[in-house]
Amino acid sequence: MKKRILTGIKPTGKIHLGNYLGMVRQILDFQDKYETYLMIANLHAQTVPYDPNELKKETFELVASLLALGIDPQKTIIFLQSDNPYHSYLSWILGCLTYLGELQRMHEFKEQSERYKKEGVGLGILMYPVLMAADILLYNADLVPVGEDQKQHLELTREIARRFNKKFGKIFKIPEAIIPQETHKIMSLDNPLKKMSKSLPNGCLEIFADKKEIEEKILKAVTDSGNEIKYDPINKPGISNLMIIYKYLTGKSLVEIEEEFKNISYYDFKKEIVDAFFKKFEQARKLKNKIKRKDIIRILEKNKEKVTRESEKIFNLVLKRTGLKI
Ligand code: TRP
Repeated sequence: MKKRILTGIKPTGKIHLGNYLGMVRQILDFQDKYETYLMIANLHAQTVPYDPNELKKETFELVASLLALGIDPQKTIIFLQSDNPYHSYLSWILGCLTYLGELQRMHEFKEQSERYKKEGVGLGILMYPVLMAADILLYNADLVPVGEDQKQHLELTREIARRFNKKFGKIFKIPEAIIPQETHKIMSLDNPLKKMSKSLPNGCLEIFADKKEIEEKILKAVTDSGNEIKYDPINKPGISNLMIIYKYLTGKSLVEIEEEFKNISYYDFKKEIVDAFFKKFEQARKLKNKIKRKDIIRILEKNKEKVTRESEKIFNLVLKRTGLKI
């Protein structure tokens, strides 16, 4: 039997090149090997202040982008977290087994509670990893792909699952982390010392942005003094980042790129990157415009049924074992 993999993506912000290379590209690979569950983590998006209409828009936008980029609904079960009420229900039950101290120790909790100090720190920020544990355990996922920032949350999920199993008898599988294949971090185009992210908009390449905007951002990317196209992340972080981007867009190696662009100016190299970008994403960009709202709704409706039914067995067992179902 195929192993089951589950991952979640928050519908906050458009897909950019860093997301694509770090995550989407991997899911494209997973969907051929595993039984793949891809959850739009809209309940997690609620943990910080947000606008409901924005959330709806971002949700559609994210699903459309993922489908356009090659997530195949015949292979991957793409669904909304909020479409299956057992996520939030299970997170209550698991929350009662989780200690306040454990949650307060999470790096992300510390960061977010600092960041929202003024607005007020909602309980959602504290409960965030418990909901994540529910997402994973509800489907008995074998594998969870996690980046550096989510490792600690997966560790806690494993701990909660063990604790539950010990107290109420074994129900949950202990999920394993999949550490992403070796990928270089994609850095911001206007500050190659920082990771590409939507919080640095000038250096962030959104896959489906206007053609002109993408062109401009690449052509304006920060480079380094000198004029050699050479991979040297310490002394030439700007050019090295552009080389990494070009490498992933074309599949060429860094050595090949150095060879190919000997005696070629930074500007001409950037023009090649622009071409490579559009070549790589041309098809997805066209496809995205053709995806209709009603297609998305149809897929999500179907998967709502499917995931709810799928998780019911485990959830009913949880209710029995915990004494909630008499
Ligand atoms: N917290 C994850 C992130 O910010 C998203 C997420 C929610 C998730 N539930 C999950 C990831 C379950 C893996 C498994 O990236």
